[in-house]
Amino acid sequence: MGFWDHRMDRAPTSGRAPAAQPPAAQPPAAQPPAAQPPAPDRASDADDRVARFDVAPPRYRLADVVLPDSARVQLGALVAKVEHHRTLYEAWGLASIDPCGRRVAINLYGPPGTGKTMCAEGIAERLSRPIVTVSYAELESKYVGETPKNIVAAFEAARRHGAVLFFDEADSILGRRLTAVTQSADHGVNVSRSVMLLQLDRFEGVVIFATNLAKNYDGAFVRRILGHVEIPLPDVAGRERLATRLLPPSLPRAHDVTTEWLASISDGLSGGEMLHLVVGAATRAVQRSADAQRLTRDDLEAEALAFRAARHAVGIDAPPPRIDEREATDDESAAVRERRSTVS
Ligand SMILES: Nc1ncnc2c1ncn2[C@@H]1O[C@H](COP(=O)(O)OP(=O)(O)OP(=O)(O)O)[C@@H](O)[C@H]1O
Ligand SMILES: [Mg+2]
Repeated sequence: MGFWDHRMDRAPTSGRAPAAQPPAAQPPAAQPPAAQPPAPDRASDADDRVARFDVAPPRYRLADVVLPDSARVQLGALVAKVEHHRTLYEAWGLASIDPCGRRVAINLYGPPGTGKTMCAEGIAERLSRPIVTVSYAELESKYVGETPKNIVAAFEAARRHGAVLFFDEADSILGRRLTAVTQSADHGVNVSRSVMLLQLDRFEGVVIFATNLAKNYDGAFVRRILGHVEIPLPDVAGRERLATRLLPPSLPRAHDVTTEWLASISDGLSGGEMLHLVVGAATRAVQRSADAQRLTRDDLEAEALAFRAARHAVGIDAPPPRIDEREATDDESAAVRERRSTVS
């Protein structure tokens, strides 16, 4: 049964489907000797490979994701194309002019932690479909010839379950094919990409790619993708909405830790980074004595500073500002000033 034959029933939106387990009474499968390639394919090998991909109910709704209007409108249009497929392609005859219309490929690109994975799950939730999430590590194999089989199996897993197929870190999978092939490993990369193209051409359903590096995509893949949607870093309004989600009412906090203030100190951070900021700051607060166990500006500022220093150390950010380069506020504590001047 294909993607378009499944009924548009609502899928449960909480809790992951249990991963396929080996039968309880079975002893653990014998491992092949370390240096040996696996035994040649048996008839069930392809089925085993398909079963390795986790089919899960989506954990998020599109409404949960803080997005700029442009991205929300684009995603809404792509979802509508799937929801109205029958009308568009059968009743209105678009199948005659767009024979590839049964494949809807979407590319979500943007910096790390901006909500791309949430969007992929949100799209699946809107379509009432489970999701098969495939990472590069799941496809890659040290054995020559294994990666293409894993790619075929990923598509087959989505087909069998009528699921949305989601390739995370897609730039590693859809990268440019190599022109100067010098080693068998290079040849393997090109074979995998050709197999990916072929599978994409044959696939009838929704496939989503997510990447931080869309510029690395091979042009052949870019052409096959219907919608490229940028999921950018949040602006100040977006950060305020994120801050509202990230400061739940049950989290004890000082009166001056407001959503506006959190948004203002999070300039340049993604939603994922803001999440880490709050979790780190709350962890600082919880270690204090009971009467001081509440989130303060100091906790969040210290965490933000440590965060920016760490990003600088790994070469992805400018150094955190020195105290004399930024406007000091009256309520800024001496401890934070001290920390700021020693880090930079
Ligand atoms: N736009 C957003 N709206 C709501 N929450 C967000 C958003 N962006 C990030 N978050 C928070 O950060 C977490 C990480 O987001 P997510 O995994 O979707 O980012 P990503 O873009 O897929 O990151 P990566 O590129 O590293 O894979 C989410 O679980 C959520 O808590
Ligand atoms: Mg992700």
